[in-house]
Amino acid sequence: MANVRLINVTKRFGRILALDRINLSVRDGEYLCILGPTGAGKTTLLRIIAGLLEPDEGEVYIDGKRVNDVPPEERSAAYMFQNFALFPHMTVWQNVSFGPVVKEWSPERIRNVTSEILEMVRLSERGDAYPHELSGGMQQRVALARAIAAGAKILLLDEPFGALDARLRVNLRTQLRSLVKEQGLTAIHVTHDQEEALMVADRIVILREGRIEQIGSPQEIYTNPKSIFVMSFVGGANFFDGVISHIDRLGSTVDLRGGLRIRTRSINGRVGDRVVIAIRRENVHLRKSRMKGFNNLIGEIADVMFVGGSIEYVVRLENGMSIMSRILLEGKGEILKRGDVVIVSFHPRDCHVFPYPKRGLLKEIEAI
Ligand SMILES: Nc1ncnc2c1ncn2[C@@H]1O[C@H](COP(=O)(O)OP(=O)(O)O)[C@@H](O)[C@H]1O
Ligand SMILES: [Mg+2]
Repeated sequence: MANVRLINVTKRFGRILALDRINLSVRDGEYLCILGPTGAGKTTLLRIIAGLLEPDEGEVYIDGKRVNDVPPEERSAAYMFQNFALFPHMTVWQNVSFGPVVKEWSPERIRNVTSEILEMVRLSERGDAYPHELSGGMQQRVALARAIAAGAKILLLDEPFGALDARLRVNLRTQLRSLVKEQGLTAIHVTHDQEEALMVADRIVILREGRIEQIGSPQEIYTNPKSIFVMSFVGGANFFDGVISHIDRLGSTVDLRGGLRIRTRSINGRVGDRVVIAIRRENVHLRKSRMKGFNNLIGEIADVMFVGGSIEYVVRLENGMSIMSRILLEGKGEILKRGDVVIVSFHPRDCHVFPYPKRGLLKEIEAI
């Protein structure tokens, strides 16, 4: 097992600041996902850990040892990308023994190590097969075996399922996580797919424009997003622009345009502050009659969409704004139709409040 630590890692490409003082500790045996949109600096970060790229400033430690001047092949880290790039003209056995062969180990040692590792990944029977003869899951195991044989304790996975279709990705990602855990490896898995990160990560690092926006377990990131960007990028939400009109011990009241008022959780803010309210779609409930308590708005169903095991409704509110509601499909649950009038309700505690962003709301939620 191995751990990784980055201290103030900074990297520029000309005028582009690809990484801006990144501080990060990856634990022994941890499955860490680095999640961010295209251009966030994810690949740059992985390549710096691998030793394929030098940081302009900052330090990289592996197992407590500073490795800035250690070449890639001596870092016990394997950089893997795009379906793991097996050597297509080599058999499974040749792929896996590639590292030991290059290192000029004795034939006996190469044989022993290769057969032991193939057994570990349950591929002993397939040593003579070529990659194209194997399923995606098997190819993945070969790639992992090859990395382990080459001495890797840290897997650096750069969008490993990039080119695969959606169903295969879902299967492979859970298999990959199990394998990594079984073999006691440390994995740093880069992805722009929030669903992938939520599913497999022990912890997620949200990277944006070269900076760490938030670090936490999938649950922490989802339930307690620190910014509009994180909430939008991971899970998505309804976002409304408003002004605080009242604050008390339990929460605040925010006025939206067109005379709508929303009661929120308790916040740090002042009356008159411009804010953004964010409500997860699954926290927006639709009913036929008013409920007790705050946040009962009248709306009309504008659109109905099926998403997996849920239905998503677009509801037009009285002030002309739209709100999305996601409702789990259940046995007898009635499905609403376009034009139905409903009461839209949500609990104040589910109303996240963020300061209005300097660059405007759209900048935080678009380009994702
Ligand atoms: N070799 C390079 N030369 C110039 N700019 C680069 C180079 N590599 C990356 N960049 C820039 O650095 C930023 C981060 O890139 P990258 O790490 O590839 O992001 P990601 O993997 O998150 O999509 C981007 O703006 C990208 O255009
Ligand atoms: Mg990349």
